[in-house]
Amino acid sequence: MTQAATARAGSAAPGDPAVPGAPGGPVLGAAEFSAIAAIMQSDARIHLSEAKTTLVHSRLSRRLREHGLTDFRNYVRLVQSDPQERAAMVVALTTNHTHFFREAHHFDHFRATAVPWLQQRARSGPVRIWSAGCSSGEEVHTIAMCLLGESRQVPGWLRSADLRLLATDIAPHVVESTSRGIYSATTVEPVPTAYREAWMRRFGADYQMADEARALVTAKVLNLFDPWPMRQRYDVIFCRNVMIYFDDQAKAELEARFVDLLAPGGYLYIGHSERLIGPAAARMRACGHTIYQKEAT
Ligand SMILES: C[S@@+](CC[C@H](N)C(=O)[O-])C[C@H]1O[C@@H](n2cnc3c(N)ncnc32)[C@H](O)[C@@H]1O
Repeated sequence: MTQAATARAGSAAPGDPAVPGAPGGPVLGAAEFSAIAAIMQSDARIHLSEAKTTLVHSRLSRRLREHGLTDFRNYVRLVQSDPQERAAMVVALTTNHTHFFREAHHFDHFRATAVPWLQQRARSGPVRIWSAGCSSGEEVHTIAMCLLGESRQVPGWLRSADLRLLATDIAPHVVESTSRGIYSATTVEPVPTAYREAWMRRFGADYQMADEARALVTAKVLNLFDPWPMRQRYDVIFCRNVMIYFDDQAKAELEARFVDLLAPGGYLYIGHSERLIGPAAARMRACGHTIYQKEAT
């Protein structure tokens, strides 16, 4: 850790470069940054490089204020002794950016290729889809709308299918948002009109996902590095823009678990800047940009 990890000029050590922030505010020193980074690594496998110093400083300054603390040394002591604050810190340092129909080519592929396959599978058994690292639910509700289609009628095959969408995230507040399925008018802008008219209802100034869409979704808090509760194979997994926060070992472990969980022929969608890096890649066939299919045998 270099001096660059010391944020805010206030009471920084002589020679420490200033990182943007109000003069006299709390200083994030190198030792405190290292302690915070170590907790993120052990609890969520999120890798924080020194380049994230300003981000850590700004996200955690609010938590310091909430606890009436004026310096990071005491905040780190608090986090080390209070599991609840430790969990709150991990959540505060997650990045929850998402939007409806993000990376539209995934949903083009999903509609054209995965949905017909799922339709077939639904005839003989359950169908399971997972949005892993779902944030506030735009991803899982996009998947739900792609399954429901553009007309206002639930398709016949879906009515009789045992089909469930699981949405999970480490951050409880976004899981709560996923369950509520309420989004501002600005948030729903990327949703094509036909889908919006079919599967969203006005909710004051906002929109709420229609009951038919919400009924498909179960949202749960889950740290991806904890044991998973699923007892059956999954047909489709979306884990997009989540693995970028992990180190290579964590990515490889997670990929292997996803591939193990997938049914033969199942699909894995990952984020636009991600790629499979571990041995699990050998068990998957690339079938589009950041889209993989598990070998059928
Ligand atoms: C940038 S969002 C991606 C949301 C959505 N998948 C998308 O692509 O639009 C990343 C999400 O991963 C979650 N996350 C980060 N580390 C996690 C972990 N160890 N276990 C579960 N979720 C995690 C964060 O809380 C955040 O909501």
